[in-house]
Amino acid sequence: MQLIGTSRTRAGRYGWLAAALCMAGVLNTASAAEPVSMQYPIAPQGSYKGLDVQQPIEFPHDIHTAVNKINCLYCHTYARQSKVAGIPPTSKCMGCHSVIATDKPRIQKLTEYWTNKQPIPWLKVHDVPDFVHFTHERHLKRFIFDNPEVMNNLSVDTVAPVCAMCHGDMRAKTVARKDKPMTMGWCVSCHEKNGGPGDCWKCHK
Ligand code: HEC
Ligand code: HEC
Ligand code: HEC
Ligand code: HEC
Ligand code: HEC
Repeated sequence: MQLIGTSRTRAGRYGWLAAALCMAGVLNTASAAEPVSMQYPIAPQGSYKGLDVQQPIEFPHDIHTAVNKINCLYCHTYARQSKVAGIPPTSKCMGCHSVIATDKPRIQKLTEYWTNKQPIPWLKVHDVPDFVHFTHERHLKRFIFDNPEVMNNLSVDTVAPVCAMCHGDMRAKTVARKDKPMTMGWCVSCHEKNGGPGDCWKCHK
């Protein structure tokens, strides 16, 4: 809370200066009008070395996102509108893997699930307790869909840094791994720096 107060005071005190510099073309409007980061958020500190989760198929995020430049939002489509980001259905994998890398053992295992009509039993890596209310929707609206820095150049390389605030850089990983502590203090510290809600009931409904 203290941080929000501090930046508001500073904006009030130096608002006239920013306006003057802006007219003089010294500052761009975005940074003058918004002392709190409106573009990429200020990352909360802290890390957490999560245990490796043994997935049914080791899914290589690096090959798909760093090498083949497939956007996170192409597979994690639900992240845009809903509470859960979701893991893509096997049909989405098969859109490519009915023809790509069909000779590889992991793709043969994938195809086996598909032809046997069995869902792949992916395990959840990130999980906040049930008494915590979290949705991707507002976070992604703010940091992706309302962020011109990302939307004017929408690609895996502008989206991934936003996800990385909370998940670490998935472009560098094979299977997903928990990188951030995801504790109350961690959530609150980002809310303080970037203007998220501070009321208990917002996160505990
Ligand atoms: C081709 C589809 C595909 C793309 C593209 C993709 N993912 Fe994934 N993602 C998956 C699959 C499948 C899993 C489940 C396996 C796992 O957890 O490793 C997963 C798991 C995850 C998880 C862990 C979910 C949990 O259980 O907590 C995160 C976080 C994640 N992806 C983020 C990203 C980010 C960020 C990007 C872009 C840099 C991305 N993904 C791109 C398919 C994809
Ligand atoms: C848009 C196309 C596309 C989609 C969708 C896609 N992949 Fe891939 N995948 C690729 C490409 C391209 C490669 C690299 C193939 C190569 O190196 O020969 C790859 C490689 C892989 C590999 C590594 C294979 C190996 O052993 O070298 C695995 C495993 C894999 N994909 C699993 C999946 C799964 C599971 C899904 C669905 C969640 C998925 N892919 C969705 C394009 C895709
Ligand atoms: C503000 C932090 C934050 C950001 C930004 C964020 N996530 Fe998450 N993500 C979480 C939390 C917290 C969970 C665990 C949710 C739960 O347990 O209910 C999660 C869970 C997930 C999961 C697991 C399945 C699910 O739906 O719960 C996937 C996949 C995922 N995120 C992908 C993404 C992708 C892709 C992006 C970027 C487009 C992204 N996340 C951005 C915090 C974030
Ligand atoms: C920005 C979101 C957020 C806000 C705001 C928030 N909490 Fe939390 N809270 C969490 C998360 C996430 C956890 C679970 C992780 C953990 O235990 O640190 C949690 C856990 C808790 C727990 C359980 C702690 C334990 O040791 O099991 C209590 C009690 C709690 N919060 C009370 C509060 C109170 C009281 C407030 C208001 C002063 C508040 N929370 C505000 C996110 C939040
Ligand atoms: C990267 C910074 C960041 C992190 C980390 C973060 N938040 Fe937020 N959160 C925000 C911002 C900024 C907003 C305000 C978005 C807006 O309304 O424009 C917000 C809004 C929210 C809201 C209100 C959305 C609604 O639907 O009413 C909730 C609830 C919330 N966050 C919960 C959490 C929880 C729980 C965690 C930790 C697991 C968390 N957040 C982690 C930045 C963050």
